[in-house]
Amino acid sequence: MHTPTVKRTYLLWTCFLSCVSGTIQHATRQNTPPAITDPASLVLPFIGTTNGGHVFPGATLPHGMVKTGMDTDSPGNHAGYDGNSTFNATGFSQLHDSGTGGAVPLSNFKIWAFPNCTEFRHCPTSLDSRKVLRKVLPDGSPDDFASPGYFSTNLSNSMRVELTAARRTALHRYTFPLNTTEPRMLVDITNDGQRSGIDTTMTLDPMTGRVVGGASFAASFGPGRYNAFTCVDFKGEGFDLQKPTEWGAWLVDTPVLGTTNVAQIYLSFLNEAGGLLTFPPAPEGTQTKILARVGVSLVSTEQACQNAEEEIPDFDFERVHQDNRATWNDLLGRVQVDMTGVPLETAQLFYSSLYRSHISPADYTGENPKWNSSEPYYDSYYCNWDTYRTLYPLMSLHDPVVFSRIVRGMIDIQRHEGWLPECRGATAMHFIQGGSNADPILGEFFVKFNDQAESMNVSATDLYNALLADAELQPPNWNLQGRQVDLWKQLNYIPQDMFDAGGANTKQVSRTLEHAFNDFAISQVAKTMGNVEDGAKYSQRANNSFNVWNPDVVQPDRPDIQGMMQPRFANGTFNFTDPRHCSIHDPEQATCFLNAINRDGFYEGSPILYSQYAPHDTAQLLQLQGGVESFITRLDFIFNNNYFEATDEPSQQMPFMYHYANRPGLSTQRSRQVIAEFFNTSVNGLPGNDDSGAMGSYAAFYLLGLYPLPATRQFLLSSPYFPSISFFNPAFNSTTTIISNGFAGNPEDGTGGHVFVSNVTVNGEPYKSNCFLDWDVFTNGSTVELTLSEDINLTCGNGPDALPPSLSTGGYD
Ligand SMILES: *[C@@H]1O[C@H](CO)[C@@H](O)[C@H](O)[C@H]1NC(C)=O
Ligand SMILES: *[C@@H]1O[C@H](CO)[C@@H](O)[C@H](O)[C@H]1NC(C)=O
Ligand SMILES: *[C@@H]1O[C@H](CO)[C@@H](O)[C@H](O)[C@H]1NC(C)=O
Ligand SMILES: *[C@@H]1O[C@H](CO)[C@@H](O)[C@H](O)[C@H]1NC(C)=O
Ligand SMILES: *[C@@H]1O[C@H](CO)[C@@H](O)[C@H](O)[C@H]1NC(C)=O
Ligand SMILES: *[C@@H]1O[C@H](CO)[C@@H](O)[C@H](O)[C@H]1NC(C)=O
Ligand SMILES: *[C@@H]1O[C@H](CO)[C@@H](O)[C@H](O)[C@H]1NC(C)=O
Ligand SMILES: *[C@@H]1O[C@H](CO)[C@@H](O)[C@H](O)[C@H]1NC(C)=O
Ligand SMILES: *[C@@H]1O[C@H](CO)[C@@H](O)[C@H](O)[C@H]1NC(C)=O
Ligand SMILES: *[C@@H]1O[C@H](CO)[C@@H](O)[C@H](O)[C@H]1NC(C)=O
Ligand SMILES: *[C@@H]1O[C@H](CO)[C@@H](O)[C@H](O)[C@H]1NC(C)=O
Ligand SMILES: *[C@@H]1O[C@H](CO)[C@@H](O)[C@H](O)[C@H]1NC(C)=O
Repeated sequence: MHTPTVKRTYLLWTCFLSCVSGTIQHATRQNTPPAITDPASLVLPFIGTTNGGHVFPGATLPHGMVKTGMDTDSPGNHAGYDGNSTFNATGFSQLHDSGTGGAVPLSNFKIWAFPNCTEFRHCPTSLDSRKVLRKVLPDGSPDDFASPGYFSTNLSNSMRVELTAARRTALHRYTFPLNTTEPRMLVDITNDGQRSGIDTTMTLDPMTGRVVGGASFAASFGPGRYNAFTCVDFKGEGFDLQKPTEWGAWLVDTPVLGTTNVAQIYLSFLNEAGGLLTFPPAPEGTQTKILARVGVSLVSTEQACQNAEEEIPDFDFERVHQDNRATWNDLLGRVQVDMTGVPLETAQLFYSSLYRSHISPADYTGENPKWNSSEPYYDSYYCNWDTYRTLYPLMSLHDPVVFSRIVRGMIDIQRHEGWLPECRGATAMHFIQGGSNADPILGEFFVKFNDQAESMNVSATDLYNALLADAELQPPNWNLQGRQVDLWKQLNYIPQDMFDAGGANTKQVSRTLEHAFNDFAISQVAKTMGNVEDGAKYSQRANNSFNVWNPDVVQPDRPDIQGMMQPRFANGTFNFTDPRHCSIHDPEQATCFLNAINRDGFYEGSPILYSQYAPHDTAQLLQLQGGVESFITRLDFIFNNNYFEATDEPSQQMPFMYHYANRPGLSTQRSRQVIAEFFNTSVNGLPGNDDSGAMGSYAAFYLLGLYPLPATRQFLLSSPYFPSISFFNPAFNSTTTIISNGFAGNPEDGTGGHVFVSNVTVNGEPYKSNCFLDWDVFTNGSTVELTLSEDINLTCGNGPDALPPSLSTGGYD
């Protein structure tokens, strides 16, 4: 976005590579590439910040609770910001999600500065009155800059605003235009993203300028509400700010001079309120810079103040920023790529995708108002349905300790609420999407880290009990808590015509397929624990995917494409949903979004897409679809006719499915075509919402030449976009390296190229498959060497274990 800075980064890296490794072109793979010590410089936080990406580009720690950023009046301001300069800035708020849908979440406690409103009582305090455009650069983009842990903007009223963050506290720096005589600071208590604040409190201290307050706000994607509190202190930078010269509470556009409490002026039907302060300016000839330290808590104003005082006692903007960036560099630097012969944009796309995989969920430990516990508390699971496929398997590779804390937090939620979280934001349950999709997340953790679980303080017993609650106990409101368990156990699918109290008559086919995968994850945990009986029981339930397979339904105009996942009634007969339903070819132009009157059975995907969805048993799917040739024909039909949905998670595995037909080259090409078509480093660089990092982690895997199946010990293998990649895993203190011998660059449109894997060795020994790697490869710090070729027709290999596992072929044991 901010062109000059991007160019600086580019020059730095060009120099770095040519200075350190001599030549950018054909460096031999024998030399260790220079370590990327400042991966944060390769992160472009503005990717996906306009036209529906809803990405948060402001300042946060990895999984930080406080995500401080600019809010705009864009209709797509789900993360506050919009990269389109036609939208006005409305405030700089403290909490955000990233890449979500629903109603605009969070965006609480906006701070605003007035450089020159003529008179205190005439300051335009309401959100609509105060907003201003940003400065616009010659290329039409706004004068905004962002890097991990830092955001800055120049507004058209000549205010400059910079933001950085600790975990629960933001630090803002407001630089006023030279000669500002009456710098004023506004604290907005009520205007979250939905303008939903009620039960507002606000008091200000005229002696210190401290403003504290809070309100009750609406949840984003469900019926609940949550309380949030703030504590704001101001300090001059480079001068002594002294106490305010004017102060008062404000209501809509009316600041009332001399008031200290919003209760003195509050009218319940006018719900915009906050505090306004005028400070003495910096000495003449120097610029007035005011720091605002903004503590946040979901418990109380006292705790918000305590958080601020503990986390940022010194108001030192540069220190907070540097600490934050160092934390990001430590995390991102665990994955190293060799950039030799690879365009800078590819490395930027990779590290930006990795970065976005660590925004959510957020670490709200100590801020859970619902119960006291010494366990970690994470929130902003928005939603597990989106993230379970790729985000957590990516964490397995390089961030296991945070992963273990998230798992502990989920188990603690189950202990207190009865069911694991599925969709959740700001402590409120949101509508479920597929069922209980924390199951494959816990499964992913336990199947891979069962030997380390105890030392990471994850109780295997509690983990398993939490899974069993999802699988066996009918919740009072499955629409918020998980699954339609009783019918699932009785019928072995979710029927279209029985929906239980509290639920909604929606997405029955999709839920059947997700419930089956949830049970697959449980079966893998049971087997890992040595519980043979439960392993068999839940494997059997995983097979329920195929109970909604109707072999008679045919794709219109394609009699050779026969058999589809379809809605089924409780009496066993099938209803019919057109295979094209809610695709771009749907004659009815339906969407398959969450909607209580949506009776078609499908969620964010057409029947023909969901007919590819049984990730734990693709071998069985392939048989049902008529064998290898017709399976490939069907996949090609889906891609060549634009049925594939790059924005919706059930499609994520599809480009890699050719692996199961022993045609890994076709997967390599499809996955690379998907990256070329749908992902780039621009503000428009995402096909849709980032979905709390679901798309970021998905793109990261594709660029790494890997694709995971959660709750298993395998990763599907293709070729990375870099001549070598490595993962440092703190749980094992080991580094795994994947080297592509004969790396010759990446085809720009993803088609063809010298990118197909013809041979794999691990630590110099021939490997059993060219199509997948076992988890062991990643735990003991192996060196994986790939031989590349231009032959797209290569297979997975000739050995008995060359094909990736599937449940029906005896896999995963
Ligand atoms: C920015 O938004 C305006 C609508 O406010 C729209 O007309 C314009 O096309 C958008 N610009 C870009 C570059 O997307
Ligand atoms: C920005 O604010 C100005 C002034 O209030 C208004 O005229 C304009 O329509 C706003 N822009 C958008 C995109 O709403
Ligand atoms: C804003 O203006 C300052 C100079 O006043 C400049 O250093 C900075 O690069 C500009 N842009 C951003 C996004 O901060
Ligand atoms: C405030 O400053 C801005 C930018 O310098 C200017 O456009 C505007 O007219 C000023 N307003 C007042 C009330 O002085
Ligand atoms: C600030 O005030 C000084 C002295 O009054 C004047 O010389 C200078 O032009 C002013 N600067 C701006 C940006 O208004
Ligand atoms: C947590 O403990 C504190 C201190 O004992 C108590 O004031 C608070 O009410 C407790 N919170 C809950 C939700 O039980
Ligand atoms: C596990 O708990 C122990 C004792 O409370 C603590 O010392 C240790 O740091 C914890 N380990 C992790 C990974 O959280
Ligand atoms: C099965 O149930 C559906 C929907 O309730 C009904 O329309 C259909 O007639 C039933 N079929 C049989 C064979 O009972
Ligand atoms: C059968 O499917 C149609 C089309 O989606 C739907 O309108 C109807 O309600 C379904 N029948 C039952 C009994 O659910
Ligand atoms: C991790 O491995 C490195 C060598 O690869 C070794 O120097 C270091 O001591 C190990 N750390 C721990 C905690 O075992
Ligand atoms: C793969 O490479 C290894 C090491 O060079 C070699 O021993 C093995 O024969 C190769 N396998 C195939 C199928 O070419
Ligand atoms: C791959 O197979 C196709 C048809 O089966 C053939 O046309 C093509 O030439 C083959 N490619 C290579 C590199 O052998």
